[in-house]
Amino acid sequence: MKNIAVLVSGGGTNLQALIDAQNDGIIKSGKITCVISSNPDAYALERARNNNIDTAVIRRKDFETFPEYDLALTELLKSKGADLVVLAGFMTILGHQVISKFENRMINIHPALIPSFCGEGYYGLNVHKAVLKKGVKLSGATTHFVTEECDAGPIIMQRAVEVKNDDTPETLQRRIMENVEWKILPLSVELFCSDKITVKDNKTYIID
Ligand code: GAR
Repeated sequence: MKNIAVLVSGGGTNLQALIDAQNDGIIKSGKITCVISSNPDAYALERARNNNIDTAVIRRKDFETFPEYDLALTELLKSKGADLVVLAGFMTILGHQVISKFENRMINIHPALIPSFCGEGYYGLNVHKAVLKKGVKLSGATTHFVTEECDAGPIIMQRAVEVKNDDTPETLQRRIMENVEWKILPLSVELFCSDKITVKDNKTYIID
């Protein structure tokens, strides 16, 4: 059984999808043991408490330098015994120490079809605004392992949805969350926890 730590910053609907998937037996080879937030007011913390999951808050601004923050987060995750770290709407940049410590053991969900609409500045609703501005006909979400280059790590799963003429960033975000994010994130977590993902040359191979 793998020990899963989930990093959050906001509403935590993806965290909720992970908790539900655990309760429904979709995630059966791992257990969410702690939720760590960059924001003390994140509703995601409430979701964790409601499910008796241990919580912690770590804020970049409480550390003088970035390396100190990076080290503190690494130590916190080590102290929790995390085998897998899931970034479920985590909006703070991560550093070299934590990323290298959890190489191919840290999964992020990005709300677009990587390599489109990703990288610096593409997070949350900004992504969907850019998608609508460009007029692409399909968007979706991607799960991937985290590397030091933003949103460029090995892709685990992707699924697409149609972009509609009358979409707003909010309606598109909701369609992608409901149809893609809340499904592929739990599935990707279970694939990892059941040792079904291998990584070679920045690509993943899933064992059926
Ligand atoms: C989700 O759409 C997630 O994909 C996105 O933020 C939202 C968080 O919602 N993440 C990023 O943009 C990361 N670059 P949630 O707190 O309800 O899960």
